[in-house]
Formats: sequence, C-alpha cells, structure tokens
Amino acid sequence: MTMQVGRKSCWKQLQASFFRLLCLLPTGFPVRSVDMQRTTDNITIRQGDTAIIRCYVDDKVSRVAWLNRSNIIFAGQDKWSLDPRVDLVTKGQLDSIFVAFVQVDVYDEGSYTCSIQTKQKPKTSHVYLIVQVPASIYKVSEDVIVNEGSNVTLSCLASGRPDPIITWRLLNPSGIGYRFSAGWEEFLDIIGIMRNQAGRYECKASNDVATPDVKYVNVVVNYPPTIQKIQSSETPVGRVGMLQCDANAVPKPEFEWYRDEKRMTNTQSINIQMLGTTTILVFSNVSEEDYGNYTCVATNRLGIQNASVFLYSESRLAVLSGVLLQPVDKALFK
Ligand SMILES: *[C@@H]1O[C@H](CO)[C@@H](O)[C@H](O)[C@H]1NC(C)=O
Ligand SMILES: *[C@@H]1O[C@H](CO)[C@@H](O)[C@H](O)[C@H]1NC(C)=O
Ligand SMILES: *[C@@H]1O[C@H](CO)[C@@H](O)[C@H](O)[C@H]1NC(C)=O
Ligand SMILES: *[C@@H]1O[C@H](CO)[C@@H](O)[C@H](O)[C@H]1NC(C)=O
Ligand SMILES: *[C@@H]1O[C@H](CO)[C@@H](O)[C@H](O)[C@H]1NC(C)=O
Ligand SMILES: *[C@@H]1O[C@H](CO)[C@@H](O)[C@H](O)[C@H]1NC(C)=O
Repeated sequence: MTMQVGRKSCWKQLQASFFRLLCLLPTGFPVRSVDMQRTTDNITIRQGDTAIIRCYVDDKVSRVAWLNRSNIIFAGQDKWSLDPRVDLVTKGQLDSIFVAFVQVDVYDEGSYTCSIQTKQKPKTSHVYLIVQVPASIYKVSEDVIVNEGSNVTLSCLASGRPDPIITWRLLNPSGIGYRFSAGWEEFLDIIGIMRNQAGRYECKASNDVATPDVKYVNVVVNYPPTIQKIQSSETPVGRVGMLQCDANAVPKPEFEWYRDEKRMTNTQSINIQMLGTTTILVFSNVSEEDYGNYTCVATNRLGIQNASVFLYSESRLAVLSGVLLQPVDKALFK
C-alpha cells in the first residue's frame, strides 16, 4: 500500500478538482478513452438486481475515476467506496471498465460519473441509475358491512417506483366485473351504496416493473326485505297444497306466516318450511277449512314486509263466483 501517503497529500492538494485525483492511479494502469457518443445514459434496474455501469475507454486515455455524486468510488483500480456491494470489473481488452453493484437499492439511484483523462484534457461521462421497485400494496381496507344508502370509502395504499397506478373493479357474482376508476385512485368513494354494488372489490396496483399486486375487499350491503314472489295456489280438497313466498334481504330474512291476524305454527297437517330466502307453507291434506287468506311476513333488522296469498279451490270459486266476487277474483287470483 505504497499509494496511501501519496493519496492523502494529493487529496488535500487537489480537492478543488477531482480530475486531478487521477494522479493517484498507478502509472502502469492501462486505460483508454471514453466513448464520447455516450455521454449520458440512463440505466433502469430493479431493486435487488445487479447493476453494471460501463465506461468506454480507448488507448488515448491515461486515467479513469468513478464518482458517485461528489464521492469517489474508484480512482483507477483503487477502491475508495466503503460499500461492499461495489466492485470494479475490467473485461476483455479493457475497452470498457465497469462498476458492478450487487443488490441495488433505491438509495443507489442517481448520477454516476466516469471521469477520464486523455492526453489533452479531462472528460466525463454520466450514467443515471434508475432503480425500480415492483408495485406492492401495503395497506388495504378491511372487509366492510354497511347499510344500503351509506357512503363507503375503500382504500388501497401501494408503494413502488415509479408510483403505481391503482385501479378498482367490482367482481360481482354475475361475473360482470366492471371498472370503477383508473388513475391515482388510492381511495374509492361510493356515495349511497346500492345492493347491486355489494361484492368483492379488487384493487390492483401496477407500475409495469413486475406483475401487478392485487388485493381484495369484500363489501356486504344490508337492506330490508322485499318480497319478490308470492303465489296463490289452487288446490282441491284431499291434495297436498303449497304456498310459497320469496324475499330478498341482507342479512337473510326471518319468515312468519299468518292466517288472517293469527300467527301460524306447525300442526299435524300444516308444515312451515324455511329454505334460505324462501318459505313454503305445506298443507299435507287440504280441507275446506284451509281455504283462505294467508300472509307471509319477512323480517330482518333493517325492516319488515308482508304479502298475502290465497289457498283456494276451483270448484269453490265456481260456486261462489258471481257478480259480487268477480272484481275480487281478478285482483287476487292473477
Ligand atoms: C434519463 O432520465 C431522465 C429522467 O430521470 C430523463 O429526463 C432523460 O431524458 C433520460 N435520458 C435518456 C437518455 O433516456
Ligand atoms: C454514494 O454516495 C452516497 C452519499 O452521497 C453514499 O451514501 C453511498 O454509499 C455512495 N455509494 C457508493 C456505491 O459508494
Ligand atoms: C354521503 O355523501 C354525500 C355527498 O358527499 C353527502 O351529501 C351525504 O350527506 C353523505 N351521507 C352520509 C350518510 O354520510
Ligand atoms: C285427507 O283427509 C280426509 C278427511 O279428513 C281423509 O279422508 C283422507 O284420508 C286424508 N287423505 C290423506 C292422504 O291423508
Ligand atoms: C289478507 O290478510 C291480510 C292480513 O290480515 C289483510 O291485510 C288483507 O287485506 C287480506 N286480504 C284480503 C283480500 O282479504
Ligand atoms: C302487513 O303490512 C301492513 C302495512 O305494510 C301492516 O299494516 C300489517 O299489519 C302487516 N301485516 C302483518 C300480518 O304483519
């Protein structure tokens, strides 16, 4: 290490111009001139990869130094940088000199200078190292349960270089996913959410560095029951009779059946069946007394709705139907 003393004194002396630091190079160091067509270059690299920065030289060049902003990394083959990831690579007939960075990180981004000295004057070439980081979602909303009409804000925060673009989609049960927004939408605002906006929301962060990062938020929208379908039934005496009532509701509705004003319970001949959003009133052996008006009541914690149906017989209708009943028939037995 005979260089040591020389370097120190040289440094003090020549601080003003780093080019003159090149006096530190071992005299026999074979360097060539920089390819001057490549004075500025951008190198784009992914975080964690190995970056190789190159300086083109030819035999007119006498000295070479590498700088990182204002820090010297290499003066000739002498390493000044304390960073263990950095190494000097000379290859082939030394028409190029490389600096290799193992495991590039974001703070390595910046300008690197190769400074060379030809017989006449010093020249520099710059390389701008751009470090990219794949998009990654680091925070996304928890699943939410809201009432219809509420305002909902979903958030999806992502990091990456360049800044990721966030897009939201609703992957609804019908399979028709539709795009809500594109751009820098970290927050998805849904004003007055409707029941058909419930489902699985996909947040996608992409920046073209790697495959996009995707996360999901489930949104449940509660709403009060609406009776969708209720069917009257024409059933002769002695047969099995059924009255069916379907209601949409979230959460799932509870059902009750009433005959006129009286709440019904299971009996020997009448059975109340619950099948999710459907209820069926089953008469195992219809008798004359069973004919009449039945009301299905659907309830959840957001509301209540009812609808009425009839169990009737064609024969009885025929007997009873006259001028008086005619309008009622039309209304009730559609
Ligand atoms: C290098 O990147 C900068 C932005 O970082 C850009 O302005 C410049 O045009 C790029 N140069 C080349 C040669 O691509
Ligand atoms: C580049 O310079 C910065 C300070 O400006 C330093 O932290 C970093 O370690 C340097 N990189 C190398 C490879 O020497
Ligand atoms: C929902 O947002 C709209 C528009 O910002 C506002 O007018 C309304 O009051 C909000 N509703 C609730 C329940 O906060
Ligand atoms: C239905 O009820 C009638 C009268 O109560 C009875 O005669 C008949 O056997 C019953 N039918 C069935 C299938 O239980
Ligand atoms: C059926 O019963 C319900 C509940 O008691 C009542 O509101 C409705 O008016 C009745 N319908 C007819 C046609 O009698
Ligand atoms: C059905 O709803 C009406 C009003 O919507 C209400 O007056 C009636 O009491 C309800 N019937 C039952 C059996 O809940």
